[in-house]
Amino acid sequence: MKLELPRQTERFGSVQINDIQRVLLLDSAGDDDRGQTGVSSVPRKSIHEIESKMAIVIPVKDEKINVLEGVLGAIPSECLVIVVSNSSREPVDMFRTELDMVEQHVHFTKREVWIVHQTDPGIGKALKNTHYKEILDAEGSVRDGKGEGMVIGMLLAKAAGKEYVAFVDADNYFPGAVHEYVSVYAAAFHLARSPYAMVRISWASKPKIQDGSLYFSKWGRISAVNNMYLNKLISSHTGFDTEIVKTANSGDHAMTMKLAEMLDFRQAFGIETYEIIDILEKFGGVLKPTNSKPMADGVEIFQMETLDPHFHEDKGEEHLGQMLADSLLAIMGSPLCTETLQKEVEAELPEEFEKREKSIGSFIRVNTEAFLQRIIKSGSIFMFG
Ligand code: GDD
Repeated sequence: MKLELPRQTERFGSVQINDIQRVLLLDSAGDDDRGQTGVSSVPRKSIHEIESKMAIVIPVKDEKINVLEGVLGAIPSECLVIVVSNSSREPVDMFRTELDMVEQHVHFTKREVWIVHQTDPGIGKALKNTHYKEILDAEGSVRDGKGEGMVIGMLLAKAAGKEYVAFVDADNYFPGAVHEYVSVYAAAFHLARSPYAMVRISWASKPKIQDGSLYFSKWGRISAVNNMYLNKLISSHTGFDTEIVKTANSGDHAMTMKLAEMLDFRQAFGIETYEIIDILEKFGGVLKPTNSKPMADGVEIFQMETLDPHFHEDKGEEHLGQMLADSLLAIMGSPLCTETLQKEVEAELPEEFEKREKSIGSFIRVNTEAFLQRIIKSGSIFMFG
């Protein structure tokens, strides 16, 4: 793969946020060149090596089964796939449909896929026993929410001994785009100089039908607002205006396990925005650092623009409003957010939203092997392949 070098890098304490890097050539055997010639070149072999150390988590809630099947088929066989479902169990048992599809997929492809339902009582019990209660409700079940599902995926990825954990949404209509995301994650990790790295996808465009013809829009409405406020939060500390953050809401993203273990997460749809805030809080040097190792090694955030367009399910205005609220609340709640900025962000909150602003903490204390053994014993995980 050949990638542009980032034209700019914003430094915030020990955190480096690289500007967008475009994919120039999707696939090449090529030389290993980290930019001496102005372009980074990552050999196909190195991409496959990293993919074998990567788990891909697919959070899913009541998506079209054919679309989910396309997403599975797009993920290289080197990767462990972990499907974390919160799909309905009645009147139609959607989870059972997903399970059957996964079993059939693995029968024919002979690859490794794990699948769990996030509200399975066995998962709640295992989390309670391994002292991670932040994502449980009063009855001891894991709460609804994409963030909650993602954290379960991270725990399983760690239990599987993976060095990298990545996410792809289950409502990606183009399998080719998903395949590109995974290659891009691996290429960026190959280029990273620090063991604490994150890769966020910035799609080339989001196609939609407008006035009867196809229109390839560049920015989603929610991301435009959230990018602006995250950039303002950075500027309010550096004293320089910046437009560096372009992927505040990137659902399709990946982290080294070493970085994932250092972070706190946030429930529902605030999680992607909060990951950046948490990195700035912990390693940005403004607040007291919580861990000296990433402070010394640095934390790198890559923002990669794919060749493929991003085409996903349109879930309507109410959903977008809630997603915006979750992200804005994550920004407002940060001790890095100044009073002036808090007021500005508050004015953007949609008129009606459910106030969800809980941190779901960090999972570093969880004994992930014990967690996995418990859920195997309770029959709460299906491990195919
Ligand atoms: N396990 C689990 N639990 N998965 C969930 C849940 C849940 O409670 N809620 C949603 N999902 C899954 C969906 O099925 C989908 O695969 C993925 O999480 C994203 O959720 P969507 O509801 O489809 O969100 P979106 O497509 O509108 O927004 C996505 O892109 C945004 C950026 O454009 C999400 O990834 C956002 O987080 C992201 O900000």
